[in-house]
Amino acid sequence: MSRQPARPFRSRDWFDAPGRSDMAALYLERFMNSGLTPDELRSGKPIIGISQSGSDLVPCNRVHLSLVDRVKAGIRDAGGVPMEFPMHPIFENCRRPTAALDRNLAYLGLVETLNGYPIDAVVLTTGCDKTTPASIMAACTVDIPAITLSGGPMLDGWHEGELVGSGTVIWRSRRKLAAGEIDEEEFFRRATDSAPSLGHCNTMGTASTMNAVSEALGLSLPGNAAIPAPYRERGQMAYETGRRIVDMAYEDLRPSKILTRASFLNAIRLVTAIGGSTNAQPHVMAMARHAGVDLRPDDWTTVGYDLPLLVNMQPAGEYLSERFHRAGGVPAVLWELLQAGQLDGGELTVTGRTQAENLHARESTDRAVIKAFAAPLREKAGFLVLSGNLFDFAIMKTSVISNDFRKRYLSEAGREGIFEARAIVFDGSDDYHERINDPALNIDEGCILVIRGAGVIGWPGSAEVVNMQPPDALIQRGIASLPTLGDGRQSGTSDSPSILNASPESAAGGGLSWLRTGDMIRVDLNTGRCDALVSDEEIARRQSEAPPAVPESRTPWEELYREKTGQMRDGAVLDFAVKYRGTSNKTPRH
Ligand code: FES
Ligand code: MG
Repeated sequence: MSRQPARPFRSRDWFDAPGRSDMAALYLERFMNSGLTPDELRSGKPIIGISQSGSDLVPCNRVHLSLVDRVKAGIRDAGGVPMEFPMHPIFENCRRPTAALDRNLAYLGLVETLNGYPIDAVVLTTGCDKTTPASIMAACTVDIPAITLSGGPMLDGWHEGELVGSGTVIWRSRRKLAAGEIDEEEFFRRATDSAPSLGHCNTMGTASTMNAVSEALGLSLPGNAAIPAPYRERGQMAYETGRRIVDMAYEDLRPSKILTRASFLNAIRLVTAIGGSTNAQPHVMAMARHAGVDLRPDDWTTVGYDLPLLVNMQPAGEYLSERFHRAGGVPAVLWELLQAGQLDGGELTVTGRTQAENLHARESTDRAVIKAFAAPLREKAGFLVLSGNLFDFAIMKTSVISNDFRKRYLSEAGREGIFEARAIVFDGSDDYHERINDPALNIDEGCILVIRGAGVIGWPGSAEVVNMQPPDALIQRGIASLPTLGDGRQSGTSDSPSILNASPESAAGGGLSWLRTGDMIRVDLNTGRCDALVSDEEIARRQSEAPPAVPESRTPWEELYREKTGQMRDGAVLDFAVKYRGTSNKTPRH
C-alpha cells in the first residue's frame, strides 16, 4: 500500500513497537483472539475508534448500537480498521441528580481512552444533549482526527392531529393540567405520543441544538444533525462518516486545524437562527476552552443577539425535526447566514473543504420552516447577557418571549424593555414544589420566581429547574408564565423566558445568596442590567449572616466535581483540565 499518512499513525507505536518486538507481540495477541489478523493490525492501516454513546441507559442514542455497523462498513471500505468502545452514559432526562455531572466525567473517560489506546482517529457518536459537547471536549484535549455522527432525532410526534414535541409538550401540558383542562391520563398520552420512534428529542432542544452546533463548527458532515434516526439517510450518513474519517486520519485533519474563534462565532450565530437551547451557552464555552479558543461570555450578545430567528421549530415556533430536515436542515440555515454576510464561510470543516464550499446549493426548500434572512420569524432573537448586583453573568433566551409576556412586562410606555417585580425566593426545586401553591406567598403577576442552590456547586452539577411554572391559581386566571430567575439551567425544550445560568451561583457566594422574598428586582433588557433594589449597607448586613445551606455530596464524583468545576459563565469545565491540549502529540510510555 503506497498511501502515506501526513503524520505517522500513532497505533504503529503499539503494533510495530520499534525496538520492542516483545511488546508488539503482547499488544497484538489479545486483539487477535477476537479474530483480527496480524495483517489487519500491522499493514499500516489506521485504527479508527468509534465512541459508542448508545446503550439501554441512553435510549436517545440507542440507534447507534445498530448504526455502528454502517460506520464500520464505511471505515473498512475506505481502508481503516474500526474499533468500537463504550462511552460513559449520559441520559438527560433520567439521570439523578442531573446529567450535568456526567458531561465532565464522560469527557475525562474519553480523554483517557483516546489517549491511552492505539487509536489514530475517532468517530464520536452523539445524540442526547451532553453527549455532543463531552465528545468534542475530549477530542480537543487529545487532538486526534475526529468527526461527530449524530444518531438523529425521533420522528415527529402527533397527538390527535396536533404536533407534540419532546419536552415542550411536558411544559405545556403541565400548564393545562394546572388549569384543569386535562387529566393525568391525558397528560401521559400526550407525553408518550411525543416519542414515536428511536432517536433524540425532536424539538429544538439541547440535543438538536448541540448537533447543529457541531455542524456549524465544521465537525460533522453537512446535514448530519437533523436526519431523523429511522430514515434511510441516517444509515447512509453513518457510512459516509465512516469513510470520511479514514481520509481524515491520512490527512491528519485534527480539531485544532478546524476549531478557531471564527468557527465558534459561527456556532453562536447559528444558535440564534435556530432558536437553540440556552444550554448551548455553557457547552459552547466548554468546547472553546478545551480547544484553546478565546471565546468571551458576552460574545452571545455582541455577536448573536441582533440576529433573527429563522427556524420555525418548537419551543420557539411550531414544527419538529422531520419537517426541519426535509426543509434542508442545518445547511439551509447556515446558507441563509452566509448569504446575509453573517457566517464566516472560509472556515475549514471535516470535509476538507470550507463551510462556504459545503453549503453550495443548500437553500431551504420549505419556507414555512426555514425562513429567509430578510423575512424571519422574529428579529433580534439571540441570548441577552445580563449582569448586576445579583450576578456577574446570566443569560435570557429572547426568542421564546411570548407576545403576551412582552405586552405584560416589557411594553409599558416610556419604559419599554424594563420591568420591576417582587422576588419569591426558593431554595432548590423541593422548596419550590412544596411552596409554590401556598396562598401565604401571595404570588401575583407582579412577582418574579427565583430559584437558587441549582448551580454547579449547589445542586451539584446544575439542574434544569429555572423554568418554574406559576401557582395553579394564577394559571387558572390565564397567567401562563411569570418572569423567572435562577442559578440553574432550564431545559432547551422550554418556552419560558427565564434569566438563568447565573454566575457566580448562590453556593459560590453570588448575590442570589443574600436575596430575600419580598425584595424588588429591576430588569432592564436595554442595558442588560438585573439588580435587586437593596441598599449596599443592607446587602453587607445580610452577607454577614449564614448563607443558604448546601446539600452534602453523596458520591465521590460529586465531591470531586464540586471541587474542580468552574461556573456556568466559563463553561462549567474542570478548570485544571483546559491546560492539557494535544496530548496525542506524544504517545504514552510503554
Ligand atoms: Fe435525550 Fe432529549 S432527553 S435527547
Ligand atoms: Mg436538557
